Amino acid sequence: MSTSPSPDVIVCPGGPLLLRGEHVIADEDGVEHVTERPVSALCRCGKSASRPWCDGTHKVLPEKDRP
Ligand code: FES
Repeated sequence: MSTSPSPDVIVCPGGPLLLRGEHVIADEDGVEHVTERPVSALCRCGKSASRPWCDGTHKVLPEKDRP
C-alpha cells in the first residue's frame, strides 16, 4: 500500500486557500506575512478585513462573488 504525501495547499471551494506549515506570503503591496499556525487560511475573495488572511467574510458574499 502506497501513501501519498498530504497536500500543503488546499483550495476550499468558494473560500480560502488553506496553507499547511510554514509559508511567507507577499501581499499585493509586497509586504511579507509569515504563517504562524499549523494551518492558515489565505483569502481568495479579496473582501477580508484581515487580508491576506481569510476572516470568514466570503461566507456572507453572494455565491456569484465567491472565489
Ligand atoms: S476567502 Fe474568506 S474572507 Fe476572503
